[in-house]
Amino acid sequence: MAGFYQKLLENNRKWVEEKVQADPEFFSRLAKGQSPPLLWIGCADSRVPANEITGTLPGEVFVHRNIANMVIHSDMNMLSVLDYAVNVLKVRHIIVCGHYECGGVKAAMGNAHIGLIDNWIRHIKDVYRLHQAELDAIKDEHERFNRFVEVNVKEQVWDLAKTSIVQNAWKNGQQLWIHGWVYSINDGLVKDLEVNYSNNEELPNVYQLQM
Ligand code: CO
Repeated sequence: MAGFYQKLLENNRKWVEEKVQADPEFFSRLAKGQSPPLLWIGCADSRVPANEITGTLPGEVFVHRNIANMVIHSDMNMLSVLDYAVNVLKVRHIIVCGHYECGGVKAAMGNAHIGLIDNWIRHIKDVYRLHQAELDAIKDEHERFNRFVEVNVKEQVWDLAKTSIVQNAWKNGQQLWIHGWVYSINDGLVKDLEVNYSNNEELPNVYQLQM
């Protein structure tokens, strides 16, 4: 344990050395500020690191992660990140990235009582209910699990589009695209679900806000 912990600090120093060697201005440039073109909303899972997957550097991705990459419309943490990313940083893209083998989604398929987290998982169960006919029709449990991961990402992209923050940006003519991805733990590849929205006109009428 101590070995692992000490190694983290050593790694940090090594990383700084390498960065400065390759680009002496690396840190002084970043210290001046950030203007990332992308907001990433991903799962907290340790196997899904936003920068590494996308080949991006510090300064390029604003990141929000939680269990099962959820966009919960009353989550102040998510809303604060979203507001800052859209209205201050003016990101041009938001990617909701889920992943196969997601423990949160798996838990939502089952009935185990885990603890406080049950109440977070509840949101994912709501997604199951919305897609119950399609999901229940998939007999193979692992295939059903994979599809549940995908429809969960789709619903989170919709939930982003429904927020007042995103709708307001669109009404103001801000260039803002939202996308849904699923990352494969098995081979590292991303599947683009091709749910790409840049206006609120595809939202069901009841969600469309007259800004
Ligand atoms: Co996950």
